[in-house]
Amino acid sequence: MCGIVGCILKEDNDVAPILFDCISKLEYRGYDSIGLATFDEGNIYIKKDKGKIEEVDHKLNLSDMPGSFGIAHVRWATHGDPSKLNSHPHVDEDTSIAVVHNGIIENYLEIKEKLTLEGHVFKSDTDTEVIPHLIQKFMNEKFDLEHAVRKTIDIIEGAYAIAAISKNEPDKIVATRKDSPLIVGIGEEGYYLASDSPAILKYARDIIYPERGEIVIIDRDGVVVHDEFDNVVNKEIDTINWTPEMAEKEGYDHFMIKEINEQATAVRNTLTQKDNIQEIIDDVGDIQRICFVACGTSYHASLTGKYLIESLAGIPTDVILASEFKYSANTLNENTLVIFISQSGETADSLKALDVANQTSKTLGIVNVAGSSITRRAQYVIQTQAGPEIGVAATKTYVAQLTSIYLFAALLSKNVELLKEIEKVPDFIDETLEDIDFIKDISKRYNYARDFFYLGRGYSYPTALEGALKLKEITYIHGEGYAAGELKHGPLALIDEGIPVVVIIPPGDNYRKTMSNLEEVKSRGANVLAIGSSDDESLKAKSDDVIAINADVKEIIAPLVYIVPLQLIAYYITIEKGHDPDKPKNLAKCVTVE
Ligand code: F6R
Repeated sequence: MCGIVGCILKEDNDVAPILFDCISKLEYRGYDSIGLATFDEGNIYIKKDKGKIEEVDHKLNLSDMPGSFGIAHVRWATHGDPSKLNSHPHVDEDTSIAVVHNGIIENYLEIKEKLTLEGHVFKSDTDTEVIPHLIQKFMNEKFDLEHAVRKTIDIIEGAYAIAAISKNEPDKIVATRKDSPLIVGIGEEGYYLASDSPAILKYARDIIYPERGEIVIIDRDGVVVHDEFDNVVNKEIDTINWTPEMAEKEGYDHFMIKEINEQATAVRNTLTQKDNIQEIIDDVGDIQRICFVACGTSYHASLTGKYLIESLAGIPTDVILASEFKYSANTLNENTLVIFISQSGETADSLKALDVANQTSKTLGIVNVAGSSITRRAQYVIQTQAGPEIGVAATKTYVAQLTSIYLFAALLSKNVELLKEIEKVPDFIDETLEDIDFIKDISKRYNYARDFFYLGRGYSYPTALEGALKLKEITYIHGEGYAAGELKHGPLALIDEGIPVVVIIPPGDNYRKTMSNLEEVKSRGANVLAIGSSDDESLKAKSDDVIAINADVKEIIAPLVYIVPLQLIAYYITIEKGHDPDKPKNLAKCVTVE
């Protein structure tokens, strides 16, 4: 959802190679265009164009720009199509100011109209372009860059993280944020701004997190943060424990397959959160209702949470899409625990809902990115330990979210048996990954399909939804997840000769009923690909293909293991089709607009 970076070096060395390196790490946030602005000897230099980073760099040689400070941007288009004109950085008429922006300026049309009447000339269709023009207007009125940015944010409405440079105030970058992420890095060779930490891990791991409305000024001597009354804010410096290598492909073809392979480690590391989770449970007190709020994959992890908590702890649990949350706000009270699940911790829909929930209820964030907005605004936090996830399709963060939810449910219900089962999950995941070549071969054979169905019951139903989401987002094949028992109430009409139906059928209470559903679709011509237990001979006889999972994986923990082949199926079909699984079209990793 757009990525921004900024950098100022202490010495007079060229910043463009560093800016380019940093912004390249944020390509997962947007790949419609890329642009850099640097300052040198009285001029702002801009290179930008539409297209993926590699293509644009090939054309423009983005590392070759003069100057020791600058800003950069990757775009996920909202206002205006992906084009050179709409690419960031945006400038005022005489290129005295350059700005990069992540977010949406909701009132840009009225600002644009007003500024046009005052003589400003706009070149792009973007909402962002009003920002350099407003800064220019205020600098013309003799405000310095910091105060021109301050005056600008008094006018603009919406979500933003902004970084601005001015040729009239060299050696300085001014930045601010509201509802879009922004971090400040303090490194040995310079100071950095970024939408997300993977951008700057190689250069700085000491991080400051600016709050909404604070103004950050970085120059060669350091970082100063001012509050809305111009007072200096003493910010805490956190050190990120992620390493630069974690945000590299490390020999894998894509981040997605690397991250699928890191899932056992993600679970293992997240299990270390057990004591923290117990403390939260002890502290939170009497809870009569739990509400999970999330989007996309995190919503599917939440659905698994409902099954667990209701069946093990008997606490009524709802799962609400963050974008629909406001309609339920009246039902919350002080005995409700609202749990926000988010890998990025910056999803705009979830943040809006969190602000609402904080007014009445206890709130808990289960988040992968340290220091992200949800971790700062929720009353309690569980930090999933998946490490940086770069592939747009969530994989290892999903199993890490599930691990936290399983620990939470097991500790809440004092279920020692379940705790023991969770401990076994990393080995089960690694064992499943040993079949990777077999799964790859099967996936190739399903490449022909235009539609897929995924069926599961109980704990396996959210897994079916998540399998279908992975398929849709990276292969662009239509996939539907259904509760297996629901199919006969309508969608069965869609089952035809050769249509692939993936049936998630671990051994357990739901086995027999799911098997009946499998037979229903098989008898209507479906091509059944079953994910089931390695000792299930009857499943092998009734299905076209079976991916076998260790027979000791019980139904209750199946969501943590059975998702692995579904992720691999989506990945290998995508490779077969020649798409890039890391950067699916129209999507971005961190959704900072509502
Ligand atoms: C799908 C995916 C998205 C996210 C959703 C919420 O693979 O990644 O559906 O799960 O956008 O994002 P977070 O978890 O960052 O709040």
